[in-house]
Amino acid sequence: MREGQAPTGLIRREDYSAPAYRILSVDLTFDLDPAKTLVGSKLRITRDAATPAGTPLRLDGEGLSLLRCLGDGESLSFRHEEGGALIIDNPPAAETFTLEIRNTCAPEKNLELSGLYTSGGGFFTQCEAEGFRRITYFLDRPDVMAVYSVTLRADKAKYPVLLSNGNLVEQGSLDNGRHYAKWHDPFPKPAYLFALVAADLVCREQKITSRAGKEHLLQVYVRRGDLGKTEHAMASLIASVAWDEARFGLSLDLERFMIVAVSDFNMGAMENKGLNIFNTKYVLASPATATDADFAGIESVVGHEYFHNWTGNRITCRDWFQLSLKEGLTVYRDQEFSMDMAGSASAAAVQRIGDVKRLREFQFPEDSGPMAHPVRPDSYVEINNFYTTTVYEKGAEVVRMQDTLVGRAGFRRGMDLYFQRHDGQAVTCDDFAQAIADANPDSPLAANLAQFKHWYAQAGTPRLSARTRWDATAGRLRLTLTQSALPSPGQADKQAFVIPVRLGLLARDGRALPLQLDGEAAPAGTERVLVLSATEQSFDFVGLGDAGEAGPVPSLLRGFSAPVVLDDGLDSAERLLLLRHDADAFNRWEAAQRLLQELLLAALPGDGDLPALDEALVEALRAVLREDGLDAAFKELALTPPIESVIAEQVEAVDPQRIHRLREQLRAQLAERLHADWAWAWDAHQLREGYRPDAHQSGCRALANLALQMLVLHAVAHGDEVWPGRAYQRVKDGGCMTERLGALLALVHGGSALAGAALERFHADARGDDLVLDKWFAIQAAATEPLGAPGSVAPRIRALLQHPDFSLKNPNRVRNLISTFCRDNPAAFHRADAGGYVLWADVVLALDAFNPQIAARIARHLERWRVLAEPWRSAAREAVARVAGHPRLSADVREIVGKALDA
Ligand code: PHE
Ligand code: ZN
Repeated sequence: MREGQAPTGLIRREDYSAPAYRILSVDLTFDLDPAKTLVGSKLRITRDAATPAGTPLRLDGEGLSLLRCLGDGESLSFRHEEGGALIIDNPPAAETFTLEIRNTCAPEKNLELSGLYTSGGGFFTQCEAEGFRRITYFLDRPDVMAVYSVTLRADKAKYPVLLSNGNLVEQGSLDNGRHYAKWHDPFPKPAYLFALVAADLVCREQKITSRAGKEHLLQVYVRRGDLGKTEHAMASLIASVAWDEARFGLSLDLERFMIVAVSDFNMGAMENKGLNIFNTKYVLASPATATDADFAGIESVVGHEYFHNWTGNRITCRDWFQLSLKEGLTVYRDQEFSMDMAGSASAAAVQRIGDVKRLREFQFPEDSGPMAHPVRPDSYVEINNFYTTTVYEKGAEVVRMQDTLVGRAGFRRGMDLYFQRHDGQAVTCDDFAQAIADANPDSPLAANLAQFKHWYAQAGTPRLSARTRWDATAGRLRLTLTQSALPSPGQADKQAFVIPVRLGLLARDGRALPLQLDGEAAPAGTERVLVLSATEQSFDFVGLGDAGEAGPVPSLLRGFSAPVVLDDGLDSAERLLLLRHDADAFNRWEAAQRLLQELLLAALPGDGDLPALDEALVEALRAVLREDGLDAAFKELALTPPIESVIAEQVEAVDPQRIHRLREQLRAQLAERLHADWAWAWDAHQLREGYRPDAHQSGCRALANLALQMLVLHAVAHGDEVWPGRAYQRVKDGGCMTERLGALLALVHGGSALAGAALERFHADARGDDLVLDKWFAIQAAATEPLGAPGSVAPRIRALLQHPDFSLKNPNRVRNLISTFCRDNPAAFHRADAGGYVLWADVVLALDAFNPQIAARIARHLERWRVLAEPWRSAAREAVARVAGHPRLSADVREIVGKALDA
C-alpha cells in the first residue's frame, strides 16, 4: 500500500482561503537515478500581507525523504504531518525569505504514475493535479504561481535527452559519463504544470513562423523506431497553432514547444507549459497501425493540450473546484478546432454528432448516478476522481451555450475581455462567465447571468418537454416549452435553467417555414434561438397559413443547443419527415436514432421478439443510405442503432440481456431488409487513392465497414461463406488499419467461424506494436455475446489477464481490456452467474495496490448497480460491497464505492 497517504477528509469548495505564503521563484536541481533521485529546491517565499510574521508554513509532500531544510541559510526545525506534509513552525520572519530543501524520491517504485516515474527506461513526470508534492515539498495548489529554473543531471548514454519547461539555457558534460541541461520558464506557473523528461528519445522538428512573424521550434519526441509515426501529430500541432491565432487571436508565447510521448500514462495527455507529455496513443499513428478514429483523436488531443497554453496555463484555476474553467473551455475549443478542420458544414455536423453521442453515452449516465456532481463540484475526497465527463464534456456544453447566447462574434469579444482581465491569474468559473457577459451587455446571457450559472452549480440532466397547439384557420402555432430537473446527490430541489433552444419549423411537404413570433412586424429567417428561462413558457408563431392542414413540424434543439433530455412529443410520421427534410443535419440524425430507439423501447416489456420493421422506416433508412450529396460518415451514424447502454438509460429496471437480444434482432433485420443496399454501399465506398485520414475518406471507410458488418451478419445467418471470406481476406491484406480492423470486427461481431483465425492473424501481424496489441485486446473484450451460446466472453477476458502481452501495470492495456469489457459490452459483463462482477472486483483490488487512479476508474463501471433488474442488481451490489469491505483501500476507490453504496 502507499506510504504517506494523505488523510482522507472531504475537501469543500466553500472552505477555500487564499494562501498565507506564496512562492515567487523556484530553482530545482535533479540528480536523476531510477532508485533514488536527489532533488534540491531553492524557494523564494513571500508572506502575504494578511499573514502575521511567524505563522507556521505548511508545505505539501507525499512519499518523500527529507535530507535538509534551511531558511535564509540557517537550519530550521520542522515536523511531518501524517500524510507526509512538512510543517515549519518558525519560518524566517522576513516578508520574503529563501528556503532550501534537499530530498529524495524513488522513481522506479512509482507505479501510481503520479510525480516522477520511470517508463521504458526513461524518466517522466505527471504533476496534475497533486503530483508535484511527490517530487519535492511545495505549496502544491494552483493559485501559487512561481517562475521555475530547472537543472537536470543524468547519465548521458542512458538519458541523452534532458527536457523541462520553457527555454534551454545551458547544457554540457559532467564527470562519470553524466551530463546536464538547464531550463528556464519565464512564465509564472502553478506546480501542476511542471514537467521534466530524461530519456533516450528522438524527435521530429519543424520551424514555423507565426502570423505575427515570430519563429518557433516545434518538436515531437518519441522512442527510437517511432519517428515514422509522428507526422500526423506534428501536422496537428502546426494546424493548432494556426487555428488559435486565426480564431481567437492567441499566439504561441514560447520559442520552443515540445510534445513527448510515453507509453505508461494514466490519462490522455498533459498540458505542462511548453512540454506537453502525451500518452503514445495520442501521438503515434501510421495508416498501417492506427484507425481513422485514432488519427482524429490525435488531432483533437494535440489541439486540446496546445489550446491549454492559453486556457489553463496563461489563465489557470484558483482551486480544483474550478477545473472546468480550463477543461470545459478547452474541450469546447478542441471541438471547434476539429469542426473547422473537418472542412464542409456537413462534415462539421458529423463532428458535432460524435460529440453529442459521447456526451449521452458517458456524461448522462454519470449525471444520473451516485457520482453526479455539478460542472463546478462542491466537494471531493480525491480530486483525481473529478476529472470527469461532467467537468470536461458537460463543461464544454456550458461554454457552448454561452457562445450560442452571445453569438460567435460576441463570444470572441468575451474571450478577449477574459484575457485582458485575467492573463497571468488563477481565477474561477464565475470570472469566465462574467467576462463573456460583460463583453455582451445586451445579450440574453447578460440579462440572465445569475440564473445561467445554475449550469455550473446544479447536477443532473434537465428534462425539456415541448408541446404544440395548431390553429389552422389563424395559421398560428403555439409552442409550449417546460423544463424540470430530477434531484441529485445533495441537491433535492433544482432551480430553473436558462436553456437556449435553437429551432426551425417544417411544413408537411418538408419546406422550411419563415419564423415570425406574435408581435414581430415580419418573418425573419427559418431558424432562431429561443431562450427558455422560466419553468414553462409559450411562444406563438404566426403567419403559418401555408404549413399544411396538420400544421408545422417543429425541429427542436438543433445542433443540440443545450445538454438536456428532450421530449418533443412527435409521432413517427413527424420523425420520418424530419429524417427526410430537416435542414439541420444533427436533427436528421436524431430523428433516425429516435425512430430506432423507440422500436426497441416498445418491445422491451414482455419477452417477445422484435416486431418486423415497418416498410416506411426501412424505406426512409434506405433513402438516407442512397441519398446523393449526403456524407458517408453521416449515413454510418444515422444507420447505426443507439448502443445498449443508451437504451438502458431510458428504462427503470435494466435487463441487459433483454436489451442485447432486441438490439441484435434489430441489427439482423437491418442486415436483412437492406441487404442489397449494404452490398451497394460496400462497393460504392471502396477507395482507390492513397490513405488520408480526412473527413471524406474516413466517412467512406466507416460506411463500408458498417456495410461489411451487415453483410457478414446476414451471411452467417444464412450460412453463406462469401462475405465472411472477403472479410477474412481483408483482415490479412486490408490497405490500412481502419479496413483491417473493420473486417475483423465484422467477423467477431457477426459471430463468424472465421473470427478465431482472424484474431490470431491480427495478433501475429501486430508484431509487438503496443497500440495494435491494445486493439487486439479491446476487440475480444467487445466481442458480441452470441444469442444462442451466451457466457463465452467473460471467461475469455479472465484468460486474457494471464496473456503474456497483458499487464495491469500499463493503463492503456487495462483500459482496452477491462473498460471495454465492463463498459462497452453489457451483455457479456452483466451475467446471471456474476462472473463479470467477480472479475471486476478482482481487478479493482489488484490495481488499487499500486495505481489507485486507474483502480478508481475501473471501480466506476459498477457504480450504477442500482439501475439493474434482479438478479444482476443483488449480485452487482455484492461485488461492490466486497471491494468496499477491503481493509486497505485507497481514498480514490473508497470514494467511488462508498458513494455507490450510499446513494
Ligand atoms: N489536464 C489534462 C487534460 O485535460 C488531463 C490530465 C489530468 C492529465 C490529470 C493527467 C493528469 O488535458
Ligand atoms: Zn484538458
